[in-house]
Amino acid sequence: MEFSIKQCSPENMRSGCILVGIFDGGKLSDPAQLLNKASKHYISEIIKRGDMKGKAASTLLLHNIPNVSCERVLLLGLGKKEELDARQYRDCVRAAMRALHGTGAKDALLYLPELPVKGRNSAWCINQAVLAAYETTYRFDRLKSKADKDKNALGKIQFGLLNTKADAALNSTLKQAIATAQGVALAKDLGNLPGNICTPAYLAQQAIALGKKHRSVKTTVLEEKDMKKLGMGSLLSVTQGSAEPAKLITMEYHGADKKQKPIVLVGKGITFDSGGISLKPGAEMDEMKYDMCGAASVLGTVQAIAEMGLKLNVVGIIPSCDNMPSGTATKPGDIVTSMSGQTIEILNTDAEGRLILCDALTYAAKFSPDTVIDIATLTGACVIALGHVASGLFSNQDKLAEELLAAGEQTQDRAWHMPLWEDYQSLLDSNFADMQNIGGRAGGSITAACFLARYTKNYRWAHLDIAGTAWKSGKEKGATGRPVPLLTQYLINRAAAAK
Ligand code: BES
Ligand code: MN
Ligand code: ZN
Repeated sequence: MEFSIKQCSPENMRSGCILVGIFDGGKLSDPAQLLNKASKHYISEIIKRGDMKGKAASTLLLHNIPNVSCERVLLLGLGKKEELDARQYRDCVRAAMRALHGTGAKDALLYLPELPVKGRNSAWCINQAVLAAYETTYRFDRLKSKADKDKNALGKIQFGLLNTKADAALNSTLKQAIATAQGVALAKDLGNLPGNICTPAYLAQQAIALGKKHRSVKTTVLEEKDMKKLGMGSLLSVTQGSAEPAKLITMEYHGADKKQKPIVLVGKGITFDSGGISLKPGAEMDEMKYDMCGAASVLGTVQAIAEMGLKLNVVGIIPSCDNMPSGTATKPGDIVTSMSGQTIEILNTDAEGRLILCDALTYAAKFSPDTVIDIATLTGACVIALGHVASGLFSNQDKLAEELLAAGEQTQDRAWHMPLWEDYQSLLDSNFADMQNIGGRAGGSITAACFLARYTKNYRWAHLDIAGTAWKSGKEKGATGRPVPLLTQYLINRAAAAK
């Protein structure tokens, strides 16, 4: 899909479809008014007849409007002008994109950027519209023997402005939005691929391919023997029941001065989580192919910022393996030594995410990071706490938490700040080792974060538990690409602050 921004009046534009907004009660937006005037009240007549009331996210497609050059006009209901907030705008834009894709239009001119969304500007409106355009056209059909037939015709989208210039700042926002949307699509693809295709080796290949495509990205892959040398006994204990070799993938993105400390992203890359000897129940176990969505979000984010050429240094680290039961698998009660030297009593082999992350987080210190953020489908408890709306956010620094919350708010890829108090730490006490790998049912997402906190004392760190937000179940089953928008926006904000 191609995108551009143009300052133009709608009535003389040759376009497959022009989209204009109608507010609650049939009030016309400015571009709708111009079309109405040129067509001698064609639009207001239709509204008078009651076919478009301006209800939020409703649409009405019109053809051959007199004295107007485009083939179609799509009226988009926006609800009350005074009340249009971020969520309503997003619902409206999604509805509009779906309606557009249902037409035969090959190109479209969308008067979306200047809509009055509370507290947001044109740049924001464009960003959200690009993400919605990609989201509504996303298909994962590469593993069907026949690809989806109803490929949509829409290849070009223009964003129309009446009162503002299509300046360099808006165009750079557009470029960043496209890169973010493509990063989201990459994360979705990787998430949706099944465990027999998307193995640790496959993720490593993807990272290597990213390094080949972008000179700014350098990828290295460590094998199990390398991890053994580094003393990663915790990570290796998770993979030891699996026939699939584990990988530790590192992508170094250089966009700024070599001396600038990097922001390190660490993504959980369990390509299938059976639970190991503490085997999961059978129902919906297939969804544990998504247990590498943290890793996928790191790949998506690194691709996005490389595409943007963001002036920042970022390192992506992906510890990746399967969690399988077998004669060689770790047993409940086993005690292992992590790279940090701390020993862990493994009481439940299904609490494996923290076991691979703790060694990756210790390894992250090698890059003398400015900040470390890990992203993981870590706990079912986080889904119980926050549902499928917000990712769980934990941090050892409140300022970092606030910055991440703000990036989530900005992109509507939201997170919620959870406590990481010392009070919870004693739940991890073990009689036999420095700690045990589970803290009981109560506060499960918090004790998981507390476990990670024991490995991140020497730098500024945040943890995103994306167990509830990384994929959807049921009829709409599929990866969401979250939290690529949040992470990418955070990095954009950091690059802007560094200027
Ligand atoms: N990958 C799962 C977490 C998960 C569960 C994500 C369900 C999404 C939906 C993780 O490895 C896991 O199994 N966690 C256990 C931890 C428990 C044994 C302390 C869980 O949440 O049940
Ligand atoms: Mn598990
Ligand atoms: Zn898991």
